[in-house]
Amino acid sequence: MTEKREIRIGLLGFGFMGKTHAFAVSNLPYYCGVLPFHAQVYGVATRSLDKSMAVAAEFGIPLAVDSEDALINCPDIDVIDICTPNFLHADTVRRALAAGKHILCEKPLADDLSKAEEMASLAAGSDCICSVLFNNRHLSAVRRAKQLIEEGRLGRILSFDFRYLHNSCTDTAKKAGWKQIADICGKGGVLLDLGSHIIDLAVFLCGKFSKVTAKSQIAFPTRTGMDGSEWKTDAPEAFYILAETESGAHGSLTASKLAVGTNDDLEFAIYGTKGSLRFSLMEPNYLEFYDADVAHEPYGGFGGFTRIECAGRYPAPAGSFPSPKAAQGWLRGHVMGIYTFLNSVYMGKQDAPTFADGAYVQRIMDAALASDADGTEKAV
Ligand SMILES: NC(=O)c1ccc[n+]([C@@H]2O[C@H](COP(=O)([O-])OP(=O)(O)OC[C@H]3O[C@@H](n4cnc5c(N)ncnc54)[C@H](O)[C@@H]3O)[C@@H](O)[C@H]2O)c1
Repeated sequence: MTEKREIRIGLLGFGFMGKTHAFAVSNLPYYCGVLPFHAQVYGVATRSLDKSMAVAAEFGIPLAVDSEDALINCPDIDVIDICTPNFLHADTVRRALAAGKHILCEKPLADDLSKAEEMASLAAGSDCICSVLFNNRHLSAVRRAKQLIEEGRLGRILSFDFRYLHNSCTDTAKKAGWKQIADICGKGGVLLDLGSHIIDLAVFLCGKFSKVTAKSQIAFPTRTGMDGSEWKTDAPEAFYILAETESGAHGSLTASKLAVGTNDDLEFAIYGTKGSLRFSLMEPNYLEFYDADVAHEPYGGFGGFTRIECAGRYPAPAGSFPSPKAAQGWLRGHVMGIYTFLNSVYMGKQDAPTFADGAYVQRIMDAALASDADGTEKAV
């Protein structure tokens, strides 16, 4: 039997995303079958040694520390996986690249543009694989949308609408979390948190942006802060962007935590000269496609949007488990994103989304922030 290549991961942060990444890594052999590499979360670092040790014991992680450097400088570790708050990403990347580690970084790449560009340039000048986890790109329906666009089935894209809606800021009794604090999340608040996802998707599917005009919203200027005292909201709770792409398509993007009644509602619609697409993350198994070449006939014929069943139909090595026809959920995008990254590390060949892709998203967010500040359109 040939020996599998071991890929050992040092996981930084074990909050919501740390747990998600650990789940994805440990379940890869189920989702992707027999792989030529074996990946393992080898070490975990949180701010408290007690928490790291509890996590390590619960999830079978060999090494528990409370210092990022203990994992970054550990010779047994190949990959640093960044699942910490946004303002920490850049400094971690500098140290991890200096130590020659491959890096997977959660979105957004950084909390501001200058750091994101520095990270992209450090990554480009290294021999390391450096990727951003834009998990939604990896859903089967989003991949199918990309395929249809590349095949020309939409013709020329004329317009688009991307929305990522949560209701988390509408509960005024809820304490502010770090994603609503500019010094930790970044000045754009929800723009960096939810907005980075839909900007990445819009660029991935519709192409690079040329201009944006944007407006932010803070509906609740004071709420209880993390320490329990009154706190003045300093990061937007909603962000609205009008955009134009280099190819001349126009569109809107809304990132909001002020949408009462929503859950994790990421939706998009793309309208072209020959067809259109619609997708909703709350129905991730389906992509809706309208083919303008199919004529409407008396009683309807076959005209109208077709609901394509994307479900778990991933190309090999994924797709056979649980079953191509089995429903997929939000976690699957993370599993596929982590598989794509680890396979890049194994192959020694960088795959998208790269740090340059992450920095480009940050450039659009920076232009949106500048537009919001003075009310004028900004070039990207
Ligand atoms: N791709 C996605 O769907 C998605 C979803 C949520 C969050 N994220 C991203 O993942 C990253 C982590 O977010 P999360 O939701 O897991 O956060 P979280 O608050 O749940 O966890 C943060 C982790 O970082 C550690 N940490 C280290 N230094 C810290 C500090 N100074 N302040 C606060 N925590 C510190 C904490 O101990 C904790 O383990 C962020 O960049 C976020 O944007 C991505």
